[in-house]
Amino acid sequence: MTTTVRTRVAIVGAGPAGLLLSHLLDQAGIDSVVIDRRSRDEIESTIRAGILEQGTVELLDTIGEASRARTVGHRHDGIELRVEGEGHRIDFAETVGRAVWLYPQHEVLKDLIAARLAAGQDLRFGVTAEGIDDADRPRVIARDAEGNPFEIEAEFVVGSDGSRSVARATVTGSSTGGYFREYPFAWFGILCEAPPSSAELIYSTSPEGFALVSQRSDTVQRMYFQCDPDTDTTAYSEEQLWDELQKRVPGTTLKKGRIFQRDVLRFRSFVAHELRRGRVALVGDAAHTVPPTGAKGMNLAIADVRLLAAALGALLIDGDERLLDAYPETASRRIWKAQHFSWWMTSLLHVAPDATDFDRRRRLGELRTVVESEHGRAFLAEAYCGWPFDA
Ligand code: DHB
Repeated sequence: MTTTVRTRVAIVGAGPAGLLLSHLLDQAGIDSVVIDRRSRDEIESTIRAGILEQGTVELLDTIGEASRARTVGHRHDGIELRVEGEGHRIDFAETVGRAVWLYPQHEVLKDLIAARLAAGQDLRFGVTAEGIDDADRPRVIARDAEGNPFEIEAEFVVGSDGSRSVARATVTGSSTGGYFREYPFAWFGILCEAPPSSAELIYSTSPEGFALVSQRSDTVQRMYFQCDPDTDTTAYSEEQLWDELQKRVPGTTLKKGRIFQRDVLRFRSFVAHELRRGRVALVGDAAHTVPPTGAKGMNLAIADVRLLAAALGALLIDGDERLLDAYPETASRRIWKAQHFSWWMTSLLHVAPDATDFDRRRRLGELRTVVESEHGRAFLAEAYCGWPFDA
């Protein structure tokens, strides 16, 4: 027997985008049902990036004290670009008067899930969407945790179901259809028990490749180094990992400690050909992917949601479709700016495996153009902190 629930908006995917959308819709008096194939525990423990743009933090403020981005997270007013051992600080406060917050994505998810459940949100874990029927009154066809058929009938369906989106096929006609680019390198990420090696993040490029010295807390640090995309996480001993990291960060002696988590992050750029079809729209990773350099992924998802929440409000409260019609075009502007920035920062800092000596020198020339110019630093700072929303 198929269980059918009816709601105004069906949201497939309880990542940051889906959860925040359900909150914004609720604020506008619009009911939604959110489903995710994962368990709550899996969602809350998946390690992702750690940088929130100022606009993201401000939007998260609307969930009230449940957002701990400002209380547990840390404001960062700058980053360092380390160019072959030479440090250059990019001062966000001075260049653009904005900041970012270091607060890991899984903590954002814990906050959002707690806030949504406290508000009485219909939020179901372990429910797998199998397809979407994009009729005038669209339906999500799913299965619950026990394998029983389950359907959501709604006025609108939003696919916030990540890079392996089921909703994408409904919107674009294919699960892979989009603009796509792969990169010949990846990041080896570690979490370790150690004090911070630096007060701010260090993005370091050296002849050995790229490394990022990031943080999590006073006692836990997050670091990444450039590696081959096929690297096995068990390929290195702890000592070798520290050697790989250290040789990419000349000028700082890294504070070492037990490494308790390792992962390899592949680099991809992707934008779906379509973001909306009829009564179904895509947001976040279902619509686009960026390489991790610059940490735009979640911030971009949240920016999509800001637009789509307003569009759905206009549609479902006033019957006005104009914002929804404009959504693909409006969202694409920021998506492609973020695509450019993520690609640019990646190309600027990494050593391509087939790079010639000319390429390396040209890249250093580009880095100096950025760090030695007020305009160059401001360009980087504005993109890193996030372009203002009325732009
Ligand atoms: C982190 C990840 C990023 O991709 C980045 O650019 C900065 C920080 C992080 O996980 O801390």
